[in-house]
Amino acid sequence: MHLPDLSIAKERGKKENKYITLNENYQKVFTGQKYFLRTYGCQMNVHDSEAIRSYLEVLGYSPAEDINDANIVVLNTCAIRENAKDKVVGFLGKCKYLKKMKDNFKIVLAGCMCEQPDFIKEVQTKYNYVDIVIGTHNIHDLPKLLLQDLDTQKIEVYSNSDEVIEGIKYKRDSEITAWVNIQLGCDKFCTYCIVPYTRGRERSRKKESIIEEVKHLVNHGYKEVALLGQNVNAYGKDINEKFSDLLEGVAKTGIERVRFVTSHPWNFTDEMIDVISKYPNIMPYIHLPIQSGSDKILKKMNRRYTKEEYLELFSKMKERIPNVAITTDIIVGFPGETEEDFEETLDIVNKCQFDGAYTFVFSPRIGTPASLMKDDTPINIKEERLHRLNELVNKYSKLNNQKLLNKVVEVLVLGVSEKDNNKVYGYTDTMKLVNIKGSKEIIGSIIKVKITDAKSFSLDGEYIK
Ligand code: SAH
Ligand code: SF4
Ligand code: F3S
Repeated sequence: MHLPDLSIAKERGKKENKYITLNENYQKVFTGQKYFLRTYGCQMNVHDSEAIRSYLEVLGYSPAEDINDANIVVLNTCAIRENAKDKVVGFLGKCKYLKKMKDNFKIVLAGCMCEQPDFIKEVQTKYNYVDIVIGTHNIHDLPKLLLQDLDTQKIEVYSNSDEVIEGIKYKRDSEITAWVNIQLGCDKFCTYCIVPYTRGRERSRKKESIIEEVKHLVNHGYKEVALLGQNVNAYGKDINEKFSDLLEGVAKTGIERVRFVTSHPWNFTDEMIDVISKYPNIMPYIHLPIQSGSDKILKKMNRRYTKEEYLELFSKMKERIPNVAITTDIIVGFPGETEEDFEETLDIVNKCQFDGAYTFVFSPRIGTPASLMKDDTPINIKEERLHRLNELVNKYSKLNNQKLLNKVVEVLVLGVSEKDNNKVYGYTDTMKLVNIKGSKEIIGSIIKVKITDAKSFSLDGEYIK
């Protein structure tokens, strides 16, 4: 048994990365049995779930449409806010019931919640019917654990994290667009955020392995890659590489579209802007979280930039990257946020007129500095601020979408629309969702579409042949 230890995060110094290449071979011992996998949280988890699915299928499990038909359920958890945790705990209740009713039913927990010592204590007591717990650093241990005798609960969670695992086989969700990890962990320690504790020290994958992976995807017909990291600008700091060089290398593989998430406004270099504007296959889309418009709050958040610096970077991007779309993340109700501070946030939204924004009410996370800060704003005031912010954010999303009315844009078609079988959906190179009348044959192609209607969260369009 290995238990998580948050204090390790505080001690991490400058260590060398350990690059480990997996070379695994498992037998299909669970053929005939079914799995149900549920993913919470961000793109990192979505991509990790592609590894989890691959391990389950290598061992012979096949996917279950309905959890009631499954023999194993895996919950890939997220710890970013309390409501993410509530969803997992709610679902665990259902799993407990199924385990009671069925002869052969295993429960596995993976992901960021498993890196939290307090949650693990609960798993050992309240949720002792869970069979296996793995963390974010050792997904590759899942097959070994599944092959063990599961009479007692197995908890294998590591908090030290010098490893960069290569050779993971992914069973990807899509055959058109692929996630590619470029960097693991985070060293920014924004005071509200749990990620540096759950994902460990910032480690970069080697540039050559990333480019090899993208070339392989191009050869297999992939049209788009999304490079993944908590702060992609910091890519390569630990191995003497630069993100701008990596991005250029990926663009040169010939992939039709490349994008990246997430960028921190701190250290977004001019070289990065130059590369983005130089290559037509680098999508003019940047997710640039601001979090707050108040310098006082930004400082308390340890975000390392001021409102003015953010605005300067924002204008530079708008000037130098033609038609760039910029989206953001905003937290309201951070400890000590006054009405004046919140108005600074509204002001920056008015100035930037973002293409979109993910907005959240501050949620205290155990072990982070912000959870200990004095917070006397009542929840109803915080919710009211969120509501006011969302109104403004949606107004600008819609305005930006309306600018595309009657224009012809390129859309990468990803699938059949869930709401209407006669429609397909896809994304512009600025990551705007478009619903198009059309049939399945165009899935996987980049097509020209004339925009006929614009709402806050999506566009409608007609395929121009
Ligand atoms: N690495 C990314 C963010 C990853 S987390 C970045 O720094 O840009 C995604 C978003 O969740 C954050 O941008 C933040 O807006 C929000 N978030 C993180 N911790 C939170 C907390 N404790 N309460 C509320 N929102 C939070
Ligand atoms: Fe969290 Fe900040 Fe790291 Fe983003 S940069 S993951 S908000 S600590
Ligand atoms: Fe959640 Fe972990 Fe992502 S906490 S947001 S799944 S890095």
